Amino acid sequence: MCGIVGYAGTAPAQGNASTTGAPVGQRALEVLVEGLRRLEYRGYDSAGVAVSGEQGIGMRKKSGKLAMLLEELEANPLPAATAGIGHTRWATHGGPTDANAHPHVVAGGRLAVVHNGIIENYSQLKAQLAGRGHSFASQTDSEVAATLLGEVYEALEDAGQNSSDGGSRLATAMRQVAQQLEGAFTLVATHASEPGVVVAARRNSPLVVGLGDGENFLGSDVSGFIDYTRRAVELDQDQVVTLTADAVLITDFFGVPAEGREYQVDWDAAAAEKGGYPSFMEKEINDQPDAVAQTLLGRTDGEGVLTLDELRIDPAVLKTINRIIVLACGTSAYAGQVARYAIEHWCRIPTEVELSHEFRYRDPIVDEHTLIVSISQSGETMDTLMAVRYAREQGAKTVSICNTNGSTIPRESDAVLYTHAGPEIAVASTKAFLAQITATYLLGLYLAQLRGNLFQGQIKDILAELAKTPAKIASVLANAEQVKELATSMADTRTVLFLGRHVGYPVAMEGALKLKELAYIHAEGFAAGELKHGPIALIEEGQPVIVVVPSPRGRDSLHAKVVSNIQEVRARGAMTIVIAEEGDESVREHAEHVFYIPETSTLLAPLLTTVPLQLFALALATAKGFDVDQPRNLAKSVTVE
Ligand code: G6P
Repeated sequence: MCGIVGYAGTAPAQGNASTTGAPVGQRALEVLVEGLRRLEYRGYDSAGVAVSGEQGIGMRKKSGKLAMLLEELEANPLPAATAGIGHTRWATHGGPTDANAHPHVVAGGRLAVVHNGIIENYSQLKAQLAGRGHSFASQTDSEVAATLLGEVYEALEDAGQNSSDGGSRLATAMRQVAQQLEGAFTLVATHASEPGVVVAARRNSPLVVGLGDGENFLGSDVSGFIDYTRRAVELDQDQVVTLTADAVLITDFFGVPAEGREYQVDWDAAAAEKGGYPSFMEKEINDQPDAVAQTLLGRTDGEGVLTLDELRIDPAVLKTINRIIVLACGTSAYAGQVARYAIEHWCRIPTEVELSHEFRYRDPIVDEHTLIVSISQSGETMDTLMAVRYAREQGAKTVSICNTNGSTIPRESDAVLYTHAGPEIAVASTKAFLAQITATYLLGLYLAQLRGNLFQGQIKDILAELAKTPAKIASVLANAEQVKELATSMADTRTVLFLGRHVGYPVAMEGALKLKELAYIHAEGFAAGELKHGPIALIEEGQPVIVVVPSPRGRDSLHAKVVSNIQEVRARGAMTIVIAEEGDESVREHAEHVFYIPETSTLLAPLLTTVPLQLFALALATAKGFDVDQPRNLAKSVTVE
């Protein structure tokens, strides 16, 4: 939620032709704009940049997508500078207007500030500042923080006071302000009296440092500077970082020096490009065979025994676990719901899945025998982070399933199992979902191995079948055209219902979510068994119903029951679209359209049945002319509560 970039370098650049729309010869501006382009998926209500130079602060900002800012920069170029900050906004306080866009320039045009997060005590601070004669140009909490920073800076200036870290008065002021703020924030600032210096503070909101050669970077995540360096530094909570061309100084909010953990980003700029696809969404759907394969890679020894070394929780402790709670939001929560069926089946440990934001407010019962498995693509979702913290305080062990190295949730968990899906840029999640299912399955199998719930041979068989999944996903993708044709013909549809049972139920909900997110169509996913308890009343002539059918080879005659459900809705006029296993001829006579997926076991089927539903939503949204990478009102990473 909101993307932030910062940059400190040396003399205005060598002047290679820019690919970003930034004027040639302006390294700082070019870096900032490129960073914002990469981070735009975090919010696209407005964008802005500010640079600090001898002549003061230069700032441009515009509501709307980054393209609007680029137009503004072309019409109204900024002066050359060596340092600056940038922001792409997902609106919280105040609508998406030019005035509410960041940066906020205060202190008589000398200080520019960008902010991500929510400052909870902003109205008290605003009243106090107004009482001292300050006025405000926007409705944002961010401008309040900026104004306070300006005031503190001025007081330090009047007192002739400086700071030890790089002599930055701005850093001293930032620390004093950070101590007064409540809530979650990343604040990044630059001051005309200290051109070449960028200072940031972080509490419960993401920020990463990038280390360059004679230049340094800040980003909400590493994609903000991935074009320039893969050397990154993690920051802890409640820290202030001072960036100059050749130094990065970290302290806590009280000025005590701190060290960040440096790490190498394991993907490059090319991995974050569209790779010839018209959208990131389409690329990421097509990345899925790889996302699953990479997540499986290197997790067994030569004998096929799972070795999840990264787990770092004493196996003896894992053996005492008597309950698992999966915490997540959005698509990640549906991955958790799928995983629950597998974990309970394999490990015989009672497993619940709960939305992170509901969990923490209901006084949940958690103790040292509870294993919390959080699932988060970004590793920054605020509700999930807070729920993990809460559970840890109650003594639970916490494992994070995460796709983003260096992010907050894995850092604050006892252990992490990374999904290796590569960067996911499209706001609606696709490849991360399949990678999350894969990783939680590995965790489930590992626990079963450790606790002796499954024989080694059984685990080997499941792993062998998992290993075949990437090729099967590829074969589903090869039939994308058939799904696309149907979806395109349905562009005028106003509502679509999805039915599924067992693992097909969360898949149905995920299919519905994709359609809502991408095509802005009303869509609901129902448990097929619940049909007769209400949803069937929605069926009228022509109502599209997409049904995820379990394998006829599966247990408990679920297949027959779901086929009956198809007949029931069809008898009432529904237009039925069925996802079924290859060779399942029984569904044909009850369906207007059938999409087949390769044979697989019941528990592994979600890795395949989800794919046609993603393709369906993508094609329908495309037919309606919508931006599938940046759907309206959404943000990829929800870093506020
Ligand atoms: C947002 C995104 C979703 C994502 C959810 C959880 O709503 O738009 O695509 O599933 O957050 O995000 P996380 O990073 O925690 O998986």
